[in-house]
Amino acid sequence: MNHPSNILVIGGTGKTGRKVVKGLKKQNQNVRVGARSHTPAFDWHDPATWPGALAGMDKVYIVYYPDLAVPGAYEAIKGLTEEAKKAGVKKVVLLSGKGEKEAERCEQVVAGSGLDYTLVRASWFNQNFSESFLMDPILAGYVALPMPDAKIPFVDTGDIADVVVKVLMDDAHNGKTYTVTGPRAITFEEAVTEIAASTGKEIKYKPVSLDDYSAMMKSAGLPADYIWLIDYLFREVLGKPENQEISDDVEKVLGRKARDFSEYARETAGTGVWTPPVSVL
Ligand SMILES: NC(=O)c1ccc[n+]([C@@H]2O[C@H](COP(=O)([O-])OP(=O)(O)OC[C@H]3O[C@@H](n4cnc5c(N)ncnc54)[C@H](OP(=O)(O)O)[C@@H]3O)[C@@H](O)[C@H]2O)c1
Repeated sequence: MNHPSNILVIGGTGKTGRKVVKGLKKQNQNVRVGARSHTPAFDWHDPATWPGALAGMDKVYIVYYPDLAVPGAYEAIKGLTEEAKKAGVKKVVLLSGKGEKEAERCEQVVAGSGLDYTLVRASWFNQNFSESFLMDPILAGYVALPMPDAKIPFVDTGDIADVVVKVLMDDAHNGKTYTVTGPRAITFEEAVTEIAASTGKEIKYKPVSLDDYSAMMKSAGLPADYIWLIDYLFREVLGKPENQEISDDVEKVLGRKARDFSEYARETAGTGVWTPPVSVL
């Protein structure tokens, strides 16, 4: 039997990271969560925290927050991979975004780092509707979004995590790049319709222009860098026809089909997160 590895999971409390932590523990690996809220703390904005988090680690799952496309991400990935090498890390797995040009620069840093590596390029997550910025509109029963014609092959974070665990554990995946998508590409309207059907709630969808959407975020008081990122993700990622393509890499790596959006919608509705109890004072 192989010895367990020491694995740092950066973003280990986040959407994919916490499932990666669970999957690795199930395989009896020694896992350290890399996040500001853990000890030793890991903060992307404070390189002084990196050596402590990397000390003694064999492998690292890298999740950059908020996105590899933001200014500073390239330098951070470069610095972290250099520090990882110094710390004796052998292998890294990078979570990247499908169709993000800026993310590809970060991928190249990892690929040229001299470390063993696997790149996992993900499509938009299903869980953006239940754990991220699309949650509030679903709760409000009114979802106004741009890019109404874009067909998005939403991927489940459970599938991403299973792929990440598999490639961390198996060196046959070293040097490979996987594109992880769901099995079906759907529009926002179709996604909202499926969530409405699963919850039994009325949820309206309204297409808006990208400019109007940005103006809505601005009037809601959201910070300029956040608005820039969301606009970029809609324009760059959803705006390109190649990003609507479905990949079978989840099945190639895991030997099973990727999870469909309808299964996600049904299961998530069952948890009650989209229908919180009304508080009575
Ligand atoms: N969401 C999508 O649809 C999608 C699609 C493709 C690719 N991606 C990629 O996935 C990555 C993560 O995105 P996500 O939105 O899903 O986030 P997430 O993984 O849910 O992010 C939250 C995690 O990041 C940690 N974190 C936040 N700020 C940090 C900081 N300054 N230093 C260290 N850790 C920090 C949080 O822990 P603490 O708060 O405790 O620090 C938490 O563990 C991004 O690189 C994005 O490009 C996302």
